[in-house]
Amino acid sequence: MKILNSLTILPIIMDKVEVLKQQAGIEACKFVKNGMKVGLGTGSTVKYTVIELGRRITEEGLEIVGVPTSLATEKLATKVGIPLVELSECTHLDIVIDGADEFDNNYNLIKGGGAALLREKIVAQESLSMIVVADERKMVGTLGAFPLPVEITPFSHQATIRQLSTLLDSRVNCRMAGDNPVVTDNGNYIADAHCGPKLSNPEALEVEILKIAGVVQVGLFNNMCDVVILASSTGVETKINPNGRLAE
Ligand code: 5RP
Repeated sequence: MKILNSLTILPIIMDKVEVLKQQAGIEACKFVKNGMKVGLGTGSTVKYTVIELGRRITEEGLEIVGVPTSLATEKLATKVGIPLVELSECTHLDIVIDGADEFDNNYNLIKGGGAALLREKIVAQESLSMIVVADERKMVGTLGAFPLPVEITPFSHQATIRQLSTLLDSRVNCRMAGDNPVVTDNGNYIADAHCGPKLSNPEALEVEILKIAGVVQVGLFNNMCDVVILASSTGVETKINPNGRLAE
């Protein structure tokens, strides 16, 4: 019998997650119709949505315009042929499709693992509906095991991090790329708050975090998500938020 060592198994596990991401990303495209203005999220799951929308434009004549939530998504969308417009040119967007780092039973989200939370939140706020694409690892009972990203100003960022740490009673780190802080598309830094899975009242927490001078935005997306497309080993499920805008 052939014995599999860990180096053999690792790529198999990674491939499986990648397949789930692809399934969720493609399935979300069923919500996109001709004439829509579409917010294009950021991350390794929604990238499959962007690629599929590009395919439908080229092969099926789908007519949409997109608003990207990051420079990385702008680059990908341009490459696959999605016509882009500025958010400021639109009175609203019909839909945004985006990934998440965690979602809870109330369809509240942690986002910002890809450092794009500010533009993602502005685009989500301007959209009539929000579809989240996720694999099963993202579904949680209580938010917070994933470190909560907070976009902060570079000015006196250590002081802002201290304020966050006191408020959250948690370790808060400045996200680094080697020796330097990660710089967002908006020229800011990201603080990651290691709270643990105890964010049972994300709505109240969002309000408190936004009171701190130096905080630009927090990666809590409360009452924004209408649908989660969840890919798991048992299949792809479309979970409709009963309190969302797409509920029957
Ligand atoms: C970027 C985000 C992403 O949507 C989130 O990190 C999920 O990404 P992925 O699909 O790669 O796991 O919030 O700021």
